[in-house]
Amino acid sequence: MSVDKVTTVVLREMKKRGEKVVALTAYDYYTARILNDAGIDMILVGDSLGMVVLGYPTTLPVTMEDMIHHTRAVSRGNRRALLIADMPFMSAGVSVEETVRNAGRFVKEAGAEAVKLEGGAEIGAHVEAVVRAGIPVLGHIGLTPQDVLVLGGYKVQGRSDEAAHKLVDDARALQESGIFACVLECMPAALAARVTESVDIPTIGIGAGPACDGQILVLNDIVGMYEGRRARFVKVYADLGKALREAVGNYAAEVRSGSYPNSEHSYQ
Ligand code: KIV
Repeated sequence: MSVDKVTTVVLREMKKRGEKVVALTAYDYYTARILNDAGIDMILVGDSLGMVVLGYPTTLPVTMEDMIHHTRAVSRGNRRALLIADMPFMSAGVSVEETVRNAGRFVKEAGAEAVKLEGGAEIGAHVEAVVRAGIPVLGHIGLTPQDVLVLGGYKVQGRSDEAAHKLVDDARALQESGIFACVLECMPAALAARVTESVDIPTIGIGAGPACDGQILVLNDIVGMYEGRRARFVKVYADLGKALREAVGNYAAEVRSGSYPNSEHSYQ
């Protein structure tokens, strides 16, 4: 869609028109610029930062300071996309007051335009308070990686009738609480379609099939810059990891052989 700035209102209109929302994660200034040039609608500074940039095994150790630092960098490279910061483990959901204060830090100190909170109907009071404070909230249901310890791993959610019902109810409850869109992670495509039909806000799928109103993926996954377990839903569009290894290997070989720098790369 040709707008100068994507806002939550623009996203809602896109759902009405049946236009797909394109979202990706980013963690630094330069990548944010590339995503802007490509016309990406939503940029999420995900707490996936912990795994794909900081080298942790899960997202759980990621701190507010980590997220603020990277959100600031992304905001300096972003212009058009709606910039969303992920609230890391324990920064939201403990007390409503703390959730609002931390959400506020992302806007005031880091240039975020919205925050993302993982969880269903049970976090409704937190969502309401953040929205009341003037900060748009992106919901996130299905596989919520911050619950990895209680879920016992990164598994497809909503397979039983009861679990599927709960996800539909969660999406509706979160919409009532004021979320502007909802990430649906790792659930059967038919269930994601049901959730998408049940709400007026856009659903943004990741491993949730084609019926969602938009899609989001972790940037490092789609460009071959992460060597951890690759989920079935990840499609690799370029192998930058391979290109980087080759470039670094060629540089090292040329320095060792003395062929770099030559006269072309030296001042006379
Ligand atoms: O942290 C993240 O990158 C996310 C997306 C995968 C939705 O939550």
